[in-house]
Amino acid sequence: MEREKVFCLLVSILLTCGEASKILVVFPMPSRSHGNLGDGVVRHLLNAGHEVTYITPFVYKNPPPKLRTIEVSATFDIIPENMMTIKSIMDRTIVIENIGFLIYMMTEMLKTTVETEAVQKLFNDPKEEFDLVIAEWMFSDVPAGIAAIYDCPLIWLSSVEAHWMILQLVDQPTNPAYTVDIMSAYTPPLNFWQRANELWTQMKIKFLNFVWLDGVQEKAYNELLVPFIAKRGKQPPSFDEVRYNASMILSNAYISTSVAQSLPQSHKYIGGYHIEEKVTALPEDLKKIMDNAKNGVVYFSMGSNLKSKDMPEEIKRDLLKMFGTIKQTVLWKFEEQLANMPSNVHILKWAPQPAILSHPNLAVFVTHGGLLSTTEAVHFGVPIIGIPVFADQFMNVAKSVNRGFALKVDLSYSLAAELKEAIREVTTNPRYAQKAKELSEIHHDRPVKPGVEMVHWVNHVIKTRGAPHLRSPALHVPFYQKMYLDLAAVLVILFLVLRVLLKIVCGALCSKKKSNTGGKKKKN
Ligand SMILES: *[C@@H]1O[C@H](CO)[C@@H](O)[C@H](O)[C@H]1NC(C)=O
Repeated sequence: MEREKVFCLLVSILLTCGEASKILVVFPMPSRSHGNLGDGVVRHLLNAGHEVTYITPFVYKNPPPKLRTIEVSATFDIIPENMMTIKSIMDRTIVIENIGFLIYMMTEMLKTTVETEAVQKLFNDPKEEFDLVIAEWMFSDVPAGIAAIYDCPLIWLSSVEAHWMILQLVDQPTNPAYTVDIMSAYTPPLNFWQRANELWTQMKIKFLNFVWLDGVQEKAYNELLVPFIAKRGKQPPSFDEVRYNASMILSNAYISTSVAQSLPQSHKYIGGYHIEEKVTALPEDLKKIMDNAKNGVVYFSMGSNLKSKDMPEEIKRDLLKMFGTIKQTVLWKFEEQLANMPSNVHILKWAPQPAILSHPNLAVFVTHGGLLSTTEAVHFGVPIIGIPVFADQFMNVAKSVNRGFALKVDLSYSLAAELKEAIREVTTNPRYAQKAKELSEIHHDRPVKPGVEMVHWVNHVIKTRGAPHLRSPALHVPFYQKMYLDLAAVLVILFLVLRVLLKIVCGALCSKKKSNTGGKKKKN
């Protein structure tokens, strides 16, 4: 029996070796940075010869022959109108870091995705088959059910460093004494209060999941995905069966920007894979500006989610005035033209970020501290000034500061003055640039490039039908067994039984003694 199984596996490995596989890539997040991560995955898979179906909210211009895109632009509608404007965040009219809200939003996003006609068609067609599903994990385990439709392995792609919420899907939650939550700005080693805080966060979220959010996710799975599984004549697995069934997690981070925690075999870091090997050259005019900037260049970009045009007017005015007073050339990625531009300031509607970051005259990158921008800064070895706005940006910036290649400036109404001081410090004190270069060296010193590593694990999972050998034995060991609570219970019971037994035996002996000695001594 076992030998037959092994034989079948070998034959299937031989058959799939070097062959193109059909892969479904699911990245419905309506955010450019997440889109870039999805695009990066697709690019590497296509280069490796695979046939890719790509669920994305973005229009993919001129898809190559082996790529089929399925557009789910309706997901843009689920983001509340003013959710990501700088002003609404500064004025605290919204709170994004609320886990309940996040899970609700992600469930809505999946609903919108699944209800899109093209997706319905894809999921409903019994002739559609895939060898692998790669889905982005974004505060929802429900997309795991998509792999169950096609009865194929699943790989999670995580946009951030490994963290307890995702690791518990393939192994176990990490220890909050020395690993922090995805939204936390703390960097280990943690002090007493930070440790207590991390434990509290993990316990709180686990409790909320248990009493509320797991139910929301399970309902979404049952309503949105189970019908497609049933339609294929299969017995739909339970939500827990699919959510804990991922073959691997590939995280968009690397040790150069993350904590050196112990990780399960089924987790790999592929941070930096989204950056093209060959940097496209700067446009002529921009190249001239950068080449001629003898005092260095300050590049200021708040990423693609946060439009600088949503900044409060007074901040814009102060920033422009301040930039006019510094000696560096300033490249400001901004969506509108401004009046009264100082001669050293240049507005860029669109910025070829990798090309700018790789220019030798770049002195500092002023960024919101999104993971992609932070990764790119490390990739090209440039120091940053972080102005974190939401989610993991606080953590990224805190870590970058800790690693010595960054300064943090708070997003506030006194931004311009504080930014000016930070620019002065980073451009005059060489330690920031040095540290950035050092980290860049660590970042590039790997056995293979991250894109190559990603393709390797994708092929490995396909070849080995889900790589069950990488699965952590911790995954299906319940908490009480890990903590040996059952052993503790057995020991307590044994102890109690022994005590009772001893008492009985002792009692019997003593009473015998008593009757023998005529009751000289009282019971002891
Ligand atoms: C679990 O994953 C394996 C492959 O990794 C797949 O063949 C199987 O169908 C999955 N099971 C469920 C219940 O989704």
